[in-house]
Amino acid sequence: MDTTNDTPRHIAIIMDGNGRWANARGLPRGEGHRAGAESVREAVETCRQLGVEYLTLYAFSSENWSRPKNEIDSLMKLLERFLRDKLPEMLKQNVRLHAIGNLSMLPVNCRKEIDKAIEKTRDNTGLNLILALSYGSREEITDAARALATKAAAGEIDPADIDNEMFANHLYTAGIPDPDLLVRTSGELRISNFLLWQISYSEIVISPKNWPDFRNADLRAAVDEYARRHRRFGAV
Ligand code: FPP
Repeated sequence: MDTTNDTPRHIAIIMDGNGRWANARGLPRGEGHRAGAESVREAVETCRQLGVEYLTLYAFSSENWSRPKNEIDSLMKLLERFLRDKLPEMLKQNVRLHAIGNLSMLPVNCRKEIDKAIEKTRDNTGLNLILALSYGSREEITDAARALATKAAAGEIDPADIDNEMFANHLYTAGIPDPDLLVRTSGELRISNFLLWQISYSEIVISPKNWPDFRNADLRAAVDEYARRHRRFGAV
């Protein structure tokens, strides 16, 4: 493990470009997601090597539900299989799984694999792998506002006591430090409703590569870029 002071503690990734990767090869979009799952495996491995503590992956957004049914079905099946097949590896590598988002929307078999992997890895102390599934940041923020309003209406909290910290503690990411580095692949310059609150101070690195082509060397290059910026602006 080659941790330095400039290793981000938390990396968040918007994995984009699976569809374009497949289109460019004349393959169905599902093949792009399948190839993308291999990049997920490699990103986890790279983060372990670098000593990153948290890796959050945008695997399925609340907006993705409007995709064709067969694409959604194949993504959910892929996710279910990925979690089942990779559980032994996660256990061996001391990876702890978390999930954020409106998980009740997911198919029951997929949710079962998620719950099982979360439960089986709960005592692991290595990399925290956080999957954002059926996730939307505005929904997360309105859920937090609703939870706080409910507590205030019940007299459990005083509205005057609501501050940044209390608000953050009502987000799905309560207890998880904010991302230091946000990576987006496929060259798009958008945040797409991902961790809007949490990325307030994150460094952003955009890669032109589609997610299935984004491998170990590319993630290391993004971390190097983060370290350069961090050294220049961080200390003073
Ligand atoms: C964006 O590409 C990617 C997704 C909507 C899904 C991400 C899913 C994976 C990488 C597969 C498996 C994930 C795990 C955690 C095992 P896109 O389809 O929007 O690409 P496009 O913009 O080129 O159409």
